[in-house]
Amino acid sequence: MDNVRNSLQDTPVLNMLEAYAARAGERWHMPGHKGVAPDRGEFLEWAYDVTEIDEMLETPNPVQLSEQLMAESYGTDRTWYSVAGATLPVMVAMLAAFKPGARLWVDRTMHRSVFAALVLGGYDVQWLYPPLLHAGLTLPVTSGPGEWGKAEGLVVTRPTYDGLASDIGPLVESAHHANLIVVVDEAHGSHWVGFPYPPSALRFGADLVAHGVHKTQETLTQTGLLHAQGPRVVADEIDRWWRVLATTSPSYLLLASLDRLQWARRQPGYAERWIHAARKALALRDELAGRGWILLQPWAEARGFASDPLRLTVMGPGAAIEDRVRLVGRVEKTTAESCTFILSPGQRLEKLRDALGASPLLPSAKAMEIVPYPELKAPMRIREAWEHPGRWVPLAKAVGCIAKDALTPYPPGIPLAVSGEILSHEMIDWLLDWSHTNRAPIQGIKRINGEAWVWVVAE
Ligand SMILES: Cc1ncc(COP(=O)(O)O)c(C=O)c1O
Repeated sequence: MDNVRNSLQDTPVLNMLEAYAARAGERWHMPGHKGVAPDRGEFLEWAYDVTEIDEMLETPNPVQLSEQLMAESYGTDRTWYSVAGATLPVMVAMLAAFKPGARLWVDRTMHRSVFAALVLGGYDVQWLYPPLLHAGLTLPVTSGPGEWGKAEGLVVTRPTYDGLASDIGPLVESAHHANLIVVVDEAHGSHWVGFPYPPSALRFGADLVAHGVHKTQETLTQTGLLHAQGPRVVADEIDRWWRVLATTSPSYLLLASLDRLQWARRQPGYAERWIHAARKALALRDELAGRGWILLQPWAEARGFASDPLRLTVMGPGAAIEDRVRLVGRVEKTTAESCTFILSPGQRLEKLRDALGASPLLPSAKAMEIVPYPELKAPMRIREAWEHPGRWVPLAKAVGCIAKDALTPYPPGIPLAVSGEILSHEMIDWLLDWSHTNRAPIQGIKRINGEAWVWVVAE
């Protein structure tokens, strides 16, 4: 391993695939295409698409070697490769760290993968509500509860979908002091290489951190990482839950792209390239702000939050902003009051600057007001409502009903209501308004003859 670790060249998974693809011979094993491109299959190097071949039976196998190199590049004790996005790492982290039914403090800006683990683990959830903008975008949670009570864990999502992050050092320290295990969903922050990027939750001592690397880095869609560090995490528990939830036929194309990433991270100039991109993006922010555009990230920084330089949220009529840039490119997320762009090294930011133009489209007067998070009463635990018999009712008539499933606009995939919560008047109005004025679908809502229906707990 020392030789491997010392070699900047080494890509154990890619090496294995190259050797395998170069070998002539029949493939009497999965997958069915046998490494030969079928008709219209020119888009892919099929010979590299294998699954569990003999070479993987060695200990340590090429994927484990590559994971060790990745762990080293992130400075963690151990790292696992996911071919099921950040979703698998988030679910495995929570289920491995917390016993079924345990009490958890959970950041309400959670992605639905956190919700999935809450259902599976039957957890007793206490929420940490983040500040919310009138425009509907959340700010990061900044502090924990006064008392942790009997809780076993804390789950934080950091950064937000718009790249905002708070200093969670004191929160992690306080949780650890009370013997809680801290899981951070850092799906959008795997590329943070140091200033001017915010520090990773790994630097703040979080026990388990999930990364959705494909979101921001040059890896194939569906790649993710789970990192573990410190004495509180039992790696065997992670391995066990990984076996429960992960596919038994991981795609080696995806694994090879992770292998390439660990190699790239160890090359000279890797961090500098990202820092250079960050500086260019910060200059773009300044230029747009100078033209009068209202941008979420500098606004949040002025209020003490950190932000990902490569995330740009232009506040204003989202659909109109999207229309303005449509001829040049596609955006990540649009809401009634915002449009979010994910930037990357290598992109020509002038194209975006020119497409946005000199005359800013401005948000409504109230958009940047901080409003209380709409807390919903929950007479049932998530799992109880999930298992309870249900009925479908028109959304417009669902005030006072208990949600059976989460109601989640996607993107960003943050549930507005979860199973067991009573749907309030405000929530229903908001959902109806969202479904009329926005393009993003709401998961958990079904359209029947053009009308929105919702699944609620039957009396
Ligand atoms: C905060 C957050 N966590 C987890 C996920 C799940 O990531 P993936 O789609 O890679 O499974 C997402 C996806 O958007 C996300 O935004």
